[in-house]
Amino acid sequence: MRRVLMLCSSTDGQTRRICERLSGQLRQAGDTVELVMVDEVGQVAPAGHDLVVVGARIRYGHHDPRIVDWVTRHAGALNTMPSAFFSVNIVARKAEKNRADTNPYVRKFLRRVPWRPTWVDVFAGKLNYPAYGPLDRRIIRFIMWMTRGPTQPDAVVEFTDWQRVEDFGRALGAPSLTPSGAAPPGPRRAPPRSARPSAPQNPASS
Ligand SMILES: Cc1cc2nc3c(=O)[nH]c(=O)nc-3n(C[C@H](O)[C@H](O)[C@H](O)COP(=O)(O)O)c2cc1C
Repeated sequence: MRRVLMLCSSTDGQTRRICERLSGQLRQAGDTVELVMVDEVGQVAPAGHDLVVVGARIRYGHHDPRIVDWVTRHAGALNTMPSAFFSVNIVARKAEKNRADTNPYVRKFLRRVPWRPTWVDVFAGKLNYPAYGPLDRRIIRFIMWMTRGPTQPDAVVEFTDWQRVEDFGRALGAPSLTPSGAAPPGPRRAPPRSARPSAPQNPASS
């Protein structure tokens, strides 16, 4: 039985739902999972855990700076143990940007932090206009208009591919919740340093 620390940043709940799905999957496999929201991370550290999983949402082009700080502060420990990172953003709804090595936010994150996670993935998030304040709704609708996404003011669209989430959980050592036939391709490992781009990427409009 492994002790798993799962650190999660989520504003509107979708990343939290993904973290909960993964932790359920790991628990079913016999792991003990401590799911910690970034607001409550306090003195929580990798020590005493066998696996650390970090899930982080994107807002206006950025992961939560507290996630960046935490993984930077604990990179020494994280780099000596199994660890995983996934990002949740709306750009990942596009096929050409929904892999760890093609998603601009994942690439930027890995360039920025000294942590080298064992597993890296990206999941498309959820669009929920009715849940946003008027300014956010306007801005996100504009970005969606520019990138040919949904713009109806009452649109609620979940882009998350739950099968991929489950594949990620399986790569972390948990068996499938819904056994299917052939195993789909697993999540990508972090691209080698040499494969990482050097130019910064643009936010949501990318
Ligand atoms: C105010 C706001 C800003 C966002 N900015 C971006 C962005 O810059 N790039 C992107 O790909 N997605 C962006 N998104 C989409 C979120 O990443 C997506 O909705 C995700 O599911 C949010 O995760 P959460 O529900 O865990 O907070 C934004 C969403 C909101 C509401």
